[in-house]
Amino acid sequence: EAFDVVVVGSCMTDLVSQAPRLPKAGETIHGHKFFIGFGGKGANQCIQAARLGAKTAMVCKVGKDFFGDNYIQNFKDNGVYTDFVGQTSDSATGAASIIVNSAGENAIVIVAGANMLLGIEELHKALSAISHAKVLVCQLEISPQTSLDALRMARENKVKTVFNPAPAVPDLDPDFYRVSDVFCCNESEAELLTGFSVANVEEAHRAGQELLKRGCGSVIVTLGPQGCMVLKAQESTPKHVPATAVTAVDTTGAGDSFIGALAFYMAHYPTMPLEEMACRANQVAAVSVQAAGTQTSYPFKKDLPVKLF
Ligand code: RIB
Ligand code: NA
Repeated sequence: EAFDVVVVGSCMTDLVSQAPRLPKAGETIHGHKFFIGFGGKGANQCIQAARLGAKTAMVCKVGKDFFGDNYIQNFKDNGVYTDFVGQTSDSATGAASIIVNSAGENAIVIVAGANMLLGIEELHKALSAISHAKVLVCQLEISPQTSLDALRMARENKVKTVFNPAPAVPDLDPDFYRVSDVFCCNESEAELLTGFSVANVEEAHRAGQELLKRGCGSVIVTLGPQGCMVLKAQESTPKHVPATAVTAVDTTGAGDSFIGALAFYMAHYPTMPLEEMACRANQVAAVSVQAAGTQTSYPFKKDLPVKLF
């Protein structure tokens, strides 16, 4: 009955334009393709975990609108438990305007909308699911207080926690570090949180040590094509996990694919070394960057080599 992975987080409708480059301020440019997809960091992570075979539940809020109705159906289509997906008429379903350039890089504006109305009341309704989960995952596209409350709830019940401080804020509540078993961020988030430059493995190591010092069980700093850096409070030697080179079509949501996969591995293989989980999660995320869109590009278990399971 218990869930492998419970995500307390965001849902966004992604409005994606593909263009040769990102526009400058005040500029209009021609793009060549537009599509609407299911996104939001929380939901993306949940969907990736589900596609690998995790039993998942999503705790989130969408609007009582067309996008919200569609989103709930998307969760059902992916086998995600939806009893904790609330719908409100007080705000619209979150939306993300995304521009992707020819190098597969992106610029995103999110309007969180209904996501911001997820609060302690909804967490209490989901308490049994959260407290019996194997892994709880949170990000920063909902109210930070709600994320922190959810992480604390999980911790009090000895549920493993994964926190992804995305999108990053410079003044993150220091309690987030103390309630994170795994604190997983990308290079730009690590820069914002530490004030250090994070452009290579060496610098990721230094920033990771600083984050670790703040009280997390482990820190993972993802570095895109350079793989990731894994640091554990219990071990003094940090590990660099390289990634295999792929041609990027669209990197949007690759970090979420990584985190969803990591949560799956933590739930299914609790004794596997974290660097091995990160290595496998890198391979899952590498598949996602080779196709357009966020969730549309996330692989299912059947699409992946058996050695990943
Ligand atoms: O991390 C990628 C996601 O960020 C997109 O799906 C978009 O919705 C934004 O939230
Ligand atoms: Na993609």
